[in-house]
This record gives sequence, structure tokens and C-alpha cells, in this order.
Amino acid sequence: MSKTIIVSNRLPVKITEQDGQLSFKTSEGGLATGLGSVFQADAESLWIGWPGMEVPDEQEKNVTAQLNEQSLIPVYLSKEEITQYYEGFSNEVLWPVFHYMSTYARYENIYWDYYQQVNEKFKNALIAVAQPGDTIWIHDYQLLLLPGLIRAVLPEVTIGFFQHIPFPSYELFRLLPWRAELLNGMLGADLVGFHTYDDARHFLSSAARILQVQTASNNIQYNGRSIVVESFPMGIDNAKFEALIDNTQVKQNILNLRETFGNVHIILSIDRLDYSKGILQRLQAFDLFMQDHPEYKEKVSLYMIVVPSRDTVTQYRELRDEIDKLAGNINARYRTNNWSPVNYFYRSFPIENLSALFQFADVCLVTPMRDGMNLVCKEYVASRKNNDGVLILSEMAGASKELTDALIVNPNNVLQMSQAIVAALNMPLEEQTRRMKQMRELVSKYNVMHWVRVFIERLGEVKRMQQSLL
Ligand code: G6P
Repeated sequence: MSKTIIVSNRLPVKITEQDGQLSFKTSEGGLATGLGSVFQADAESLWIGWPGMEVPDEQEKNVTAQLNEQSLIPVYLSKEEITQYYEGFSNEVLWPVFHYMSTYARYENIYWDYYQQVNEKFKNALIAVAQPGDTIWIHDYQLLLLPGLIRAVLPEVTIGFFQHIPFPSYELFRLLPWRAELLNGMLGADLVGFHTYDDARHFLSSAARILQVQTASNNIQYNGRSIVVESFPMGIDNAKFEALIDNTQVKQNILNLRETFGNVHIILSIDRLDYSKGILQRLQAFDLFMQDHPEYKEKVSLYMIVVPSRDTVTQYRELRDEIDKLAGNINARYRTNNWSPVNYFYRSFPIENLSALFQFADVCLVTPMRDGMNLVCKEYVASRKNNDGVLILSEMAGASKELTDALIVNPNNVLQMSQAIVAALNMPLEEQTRRMKQMRELVSKYNVMHWVRVFIERLGEVKRMQQSLL
């Protein structure tokens, strides 16, 4: 029986440790939450990935058994591998360059050595379970070499690759000392997918210029194989967010928010800690808004959740300190005895709290400097059952290509963002409804199930096309 094998750096569940006890939690981030909700733990599917922490040797057997019950196969990483491959190459080389922040990149050869080694490790975990008729779907920038490594040992197997972060313009990508090897790895796939057309176009142009391959429209001829490159904008589990609207706990949480905030309007901001998310610029915009519009004193608050992430990487730690400082500074300047302009939380929240916040907030502010897609803005839209509320969205997020009824802003333009906040707070209900309805239709139709279906169907088509060319 043929099966589908998903491979990503992170499994949809992560192990955490408290007082020597290991427990399983849901992983954060678009990839794990989005794909995690469609993954079926059955005989026809497997998911291979890292469980998120260094597991002591004596616990590995037990953890593996528990994960296997959910069709998950762990790849354990040593401390050194976490430092050099995950924090190093993935998050101090690829992440900054792919998000157009190349000055943050550290091109260390040791990072590259470990990146190759860990991609090999994933290959070994995969070939231990893969059969020739299987479909392998590899995800994201941590595993760019994996399609090529598998192709070398299983030449006939079907491989799809999807990148969840932007693919930068050739002028950025060419900065990487290992650019040719990375492209060669990705081109081991039969179908290469991105969230937007621009990402696909950048990938095609880098392949043509760096590897001198033949490209025609969305097709690349490489090593005698024909590879298709296309965009597949990822959606969310819309039904899950709609169902949460009727959840008792969520309803209670909304009542609590109402009691706490009374008539104060809430502007919501939710991100993982990341410099690509534009959190500081967003705070600056809110600061400017407070400064230019004292009439909103005690009437509006920013509710800002930053979910801890990668805080062992220097730039992330520094960012966290700067956010602490700026949020504290804004509060110190504008707060009154009964009101804080910024309600800032550095932790993750259960989905029942997030759903309540999405329903309660009049405005949602999603202003990344760069984002492959961004699913938070879609979650806000899915939660607005009354078709009201205003989304302010960065033009640098992949989602802005779809959610054109949001107030679209340039995240480098602090003045424009502060003006958008005023426009959002004053938008007539009729206009809110017109915009929100359009966005809700789109989010509901192009949900994550649709995304999976379209990608897998296209992968099958590509494989058949390749076979007919033989
Ligand atoms: C983004 C990436 C994912 C990653 C997630 C969380 O969504 O595209 O690949 O898993 O961030 O980051 P982390 O480093 O914690 O896995």
C-alpha cells in the first residue's frame, strides 16, 4: 500500500520538560499548525521531524513509542546539531537572507557542515520507511538538500517540496556561498511549491542564472528530469475557527475580556518573536498614533502577544529586550491609573484564548517586514462571524496578495501605519462588512484542506507528465 510521508524540521507536536517530566505540546508556527490540522494519523500517512528539544538517550525509546502511536517518527538532534544546523545555518543564514535581512547572516562553514549532516540524517530516517510507490512531501528551508539526497537513492519516487518562507530575489539569493548546492538539493523534487507567484518567479530566475538550467514558463529541465515550479497559497483550518465561535470556554473568555476592557477598543497583534514580523515598527506606529491622537487616551489599547521563539539565537534575544523596552516606554509615557496603552504578553496562549481575542478585537494589526504567507490574519478573518472588524495588513506578507480588502500598508512607513489605525477605528460598519465578507469567503473557500488537495493532485499530475515523456 502506498503512503504519504510528510517531512519537516519540526513535528506538529513538541516535547517540553518540566521538573524532569517530559510532556507533549502543540508546536507553534504556520507550518506545524496549518498542516498539523489536516494530518491524519493512520496507516497511509507518516510525519518525520524533530520533536523540538534534546531528548536524553535513556528516554528516546519511550518517546519514540509514544510518537509512533500518532504516526510520527522523530529525528533526534544532538545539542551540537541544534546549535549549528537549526540555530546556525537555518536561522542565522537562510532565515535572514530569505527575509531580505542579509546583514544578519553569518556565513559560517561549520553551520554548512552540520546542515548537510542533518539533512543526511533526515534522509536516513526517511529511507528506513519509504517504499517506491510512496509520495514524499518535504517542507521548508531547513531541509533544502533533502529532495536531492532522496532522489539519489530512490530515483523513481514522487517528491514534492514546499517552502513556507519567501524565496528572495536572485540578488539576495546569490549572496549565499552554497547557493548552487542548495538549488541542486531543491531540484531533486518533482514539484516545487511556494506561497506566491513572486517566490516561484525568483526561484526560477535563480535556477536559470546560477545553474544555467533551461527554464520555460514554470518548468525546469535538470539532469534529464522535468520539474514544475508553482505557487500554492496556503490556507487555514477555517472550520476549526468557526467551530470555536460556539465553544463554551471561548464564550466565557470573551465575557472576561469584556469585563476587563469595558468600552476600551482593542487592537490585536499576535506573532512569534521574530525580526521579520515588524514588531518594533508596529510599536513605533502605535506610539506615533498615541502621540498624534491624544483623544484616544483610555479609549484604545494594543493587545500584543509575542510567542517565544528561537530565543537562543542572539538577534532574537536582542529583539526581545528591545520590545520589552519600547512597550514599557510607551506605557510609562501614556498610561493612566485605569488604563495601559499596551498590554504585552511574552508567552503562548491556548487556542480558546486566541479565538476569544480574534472575536473581541476591533482591529487586527499584522505588519511583517516579510512573511511567506502569514496565517494569523486569516485566523482573524475566519473568527469574525458578524463580518465586522478591520484587518491592517503589510504588503510584504504573502497573504496580502489574497486579502486585498484589508487596509494594506508598507511596514517601513510608520506614519502610514498610524494613519491606518485611525482609519480602522473610524471605518463605517457598512464598509467593514463589505471588506470582511469578501475576505471571509476567500479564507473559507481556500482553506488548508484545499491547499493540501491541490498540491498533492498537482504532484500526481506532474509525475504522470514525466512518465509520459519517457
Ligand atoms: C515558520 C517556518 C517554520 C517553522 C516556524 C516556527 O513558520 O516556516 O518552518 O517551524 O516558523 O519556527 P521554529 O524555528 O520554532 O520551528
